[in-house]
Amino acid sequence: MTVTTDLADHRYRALPADLAAVPEVERLLQGLGLGRLLPDRIVSYSGRNDNWSGPTTEGVEVFVKHLGGPTEDAKRRLRNLLAFEELLVTAPQQLSPLRGPRCLGWSEKDLLVAFELVPSAVSGAERADSGDYTQQDAFRVGAAIGTLHGLDRVGRVRLDASSPGLPPVAALTALSLEKHRTASAAELRLWSILQHDEELTAGIRTLRERESLAMQCPVHGDFRLDQLLFAGDVVHLLDFEELRRGDPARDIGAYVGEWLHRAIGKLSGPGRGADAAETAPSAKEMLGRATRELARTRPLIERFREGYGAAGTAPDAALRERSAAFAGWHLIDRVLAQSVQRSTLTPVQRAALGIARTLLVSPAAVTATLGLED
Ligand SMILES: Nc1ncnc2c1ncn2[C@@H]1O[C@H](COP(=O)(O)OP(=O)(O)O)[C@@H](O)[C@H]1O
Ligand SMILES: [Mg+2]
Repeated sequence: MTVTTDLADHRYRALPADLAAVPEVERLLQGLGLGRLLPDRIVSYSGRNDNWSGPTTEGVEVFVKHLGGPTEDAKRRLRNLLAFEELLVTAPQQLSPLRGPRCLGWSEKDLLVAFELVPSAVSGAERADSGDYTQQDAFRVGAAIGTLHGLDRVGRVRLDASSPGLPPVAALTALSLEKHRTASAAELRLWSILQHDEELTAGIRTLRERESLAMQCPVHGDFRLDQLLFAGDVVHLLDFEELRRGDPARDIGAYVGEWLHRAIGKLSGPGRGADAAETAPSAKEMLGRATRELARTRPLIERFREGYGAAGTAPDAALRERSAAFAGWHLIDRVLAQSVQRSTLTPVQRAALGIARTLLVSPAAVTATLGLED
C-alpha cells in the first residue's frame, strides 16, 4: 500500500485499490440503498485493510473497508466490529464520551463493512504528528476508553472469547519453522534478544498470568493513536476488530506505549559536536533527550488518567502496574512491526527495547514516572 501525506487536509492517504476488482463493494452499497461511490472522488486512508471512502450517487459519504487476511480470522474480526454496535446500545444515553462512526451495513459473505464517513476528521496519529494533540484531547480519549471499560458489566453482549494472541508466550521459547523462514534479519535478532533475556521473558509471562486473573471488561484490544478519529471536539474510537472481554490494562498500556514510542522515536538524529552530522548521539545526550521527551509526554498520560477516572473507575495499583507492563509490551510490538524487512536494529530501537525491559521487569517502579499515578 503506497501512503502519501495530503498536506491540503492533513490526512494520510493510501492509493485506493481498484474498485473494478472488488465489485462486492458496489453490491453492498447498492443493497443498502446508498447508490455507488463516485469514481473520481474515491480516496483511501492508511490502514491494514483495504478501504474506500467518498460520496455516493445518493449523496451519502461513506467509508467501506474489506477485512483481509485468513477468512476465518476475518470473520471473527467482522463479528467483533459488529459487537461494538451492540455494546453501544447498552450504554446509558448520557455516556457520550464514547463514540464510533455509525455503521451503515455489512456483508459477512464478502467481509465488507460500511460506515458513515466522519467529515473533516484527522486521525489521532496525524494530530500527534502535527503537534496538535492537546491535553484536552488526552482527557477525552481517557474518557472514551474509561466509558468503554465500564460498559455492560452484566455481560449481556456476547464478545469474542478467544485469548489475545499477543504477547506471544510460546515464541519466547522458540520460533516456528515458518517464522524462521519468513522473518527479516532484524526480527530474528529481536527474537533472539528476547529469548535470551530470562528476566524479560519472566516479566512477559507474569503479565499474562496477572492478566488472566484480572477483572474483565470490554476492551478495544488493538489501541493505537491511528485508531482515533478527531472531528472538531468529538473523538471517535475506531476499528474494534479485536474487541473482547479482557484486561483493561491492555488499552491503558497501549495508550502509554504509543506516547513512549513517539518520545523514543525523537531520540534519533545526529549528536552535537564538531562533526555533528556524522556522529551518533552519546548515551548522555540520549538520556537528556529521553528525559525531556518524557516530561512532554507525561501530562498527556495524566490527563488521560483523569478522563478515564471521570468516566468510570480510577485504576487501582494492580491495574496501573499491569498497564505499565503492557506499555512495555507495546514498545516491543512497535519495534517488531518496524523490523519487518529490515536487516538491523537501530540504536533507537535498541533504546526502546531497554525501556520496554524496565517496564516489563519492574512495572511498579515506573508507574509514577509515566504519569499513571501522582
Ligand atoms: N468512518 C470513518 N470516517 C473517516 N475516516 C475513517 C473512518 N473510519 C476509518 N477512517 C480512517 O481510515 C483509517 C483506517 O481505518 P481502520 O478502521 O482503523 O482500518 P484498519 O483496520 O485498516 O486499520 C483510520 O486510521 C482513519 O484515518
Ligand atoms: Mg486501524
